[in-house]
Amino acid sequence: MSTAAGAALLLAAAVVCSSADGESEARRRAVPAVYVFGDSLVDVGNNDFLPPPAPRAGSPCGVDLPRAIPGGRTGRFTNGYNLADIIAQRVGFDMSPLAYLSLTPQASLDLLSSHVGANYASGGSGILDDTGNGTITLREQVKMFADTKATMIKANKLGNNRVNRLLSQSLFLISTAGNDFLAFGDGRATRSDASAYIAKMVTTYLKHIKELYRLGARRLGLLDALPIGCLPGCRTSFGHDDACDAAANSLARRFNALLRLEMASAKAASMPGMEYSIASIYGIFSDMITNPELDNRLQEATSACCGGGRLNAELDCSASSNLCTDRDGYVFWDKVHGTQAAYQRAVAAMFDGAAVTKFTEPVSFGQLITGKQAAPVAVLDKLERPYVDLEAEI
Ligand SMILES: *[C@@H]1O[C@H](CO)[C@@H](O)[C@H](O)[C@H]1NC(C)=O
Repeated sequence: MSTAAGAALLLAAAVVCSSADGESEARRRAVPAVYVFGDSLVDVGNNDFLPPPAPRAGSPCGVDLPRAIPGGRTGRFTNGYNLADIIAQRVGFDMSPLAYLSLTPQASLDLLSSHVGANYASGGSGILDDTGNGTITLREQVKMFADTKATMIKANKLGNNRVNRLLSQSLFLISTAGNDFLAFGDGRATRSDASAYIAKMVTTYLKHIKELYRLGARRLGLLDALPIGCLPGCRTSFGHDDACDAAANSLARRFNALLRLEMASAKAASMPGMEYSIASIYGIFSDMITNPELDNRLQEATSACCGGGRLNAELDCSASSNLCTDRDGYVFWDKVHGTQAAYQRAVAAMFDGAAVTKFTEPVSFGQLITGKQAAPVAVLDKLERPYVDLEAEI
């Protein structure tokens, strides 16, 4: 009895403390919540809950994260914080919102307040349903968010308007496309049908973005495709002497250019009130790779920190890998992912207003967060209609 009462008191104290903390935290946040979609550049552990062949971020991934991260499994495909974490930190959170599949019953309740956000990203996934066997496809991630929103509205006594207002002010972050290019390596796509394949990627991406818009997203941050040909794992495949694969980079650039074009016209044609920024991860990483002298820390821009073989990039990063010691001096953590240090530099560039036109367009991430108010609630409500499966339209 007394133990139970003591426990109840402790719980009550914990609730009071956490809500006090929550309030002061909420005050320094620039947005009510962050919702994250996409691939391993932003996954914070969803894949830990998927069976193979979905890739998992095992040790030594996460080696540089604070040990206090719950569960010990970090689920991040890098040595420390990933792009979702660092972007969330820039807008006032401790790190990325939790992986959706990791939510405890209490965390699920917190999510329904619309003041927390969630991370639906899945390492290995792409834009297309055929990309990333066994991962959570972008289509499924958007459907999970649709389910989240429906539950928010049911749970929120103040109704649709309040939920829509909070969602319209929240940051929706998507990092995808990189894995779709694997189709050119395994024969599902060829150079001769590259235009059609890239067009299909962009069309499908826009369908998913329009669905997020319909669900209330009004502040959208997109990360474009990396210079995939300069990833250490790409340099060491196909036998091109460890140089960047120019043809692979050209595929990424063509996708990135078409995405900018189609996003601008889709906003003008059918997404009034949508504010967005496309960050050129391509440009930011190209800069780090070709001009290492611009950053006196990030000097190693060719080989991977964790792996094995040539450029430390012929083998996957695993517990038995060669691990570099100066991890802040490497651009690449393993054969495909950046280090926390590279991601920090990338996020600094995305938020820098002076980077507009160089690394972000039409506005920087900083302007996206502090910029114009999102669409009035009335517009959002008019757009409410039942979830339609996107399949039919693609
Ligand atoms: C997907 O993975 C499963 C399990 O490893 C395998 O049986 C199946 O053949 C794979 N499908 C494709 C299309 O590669």
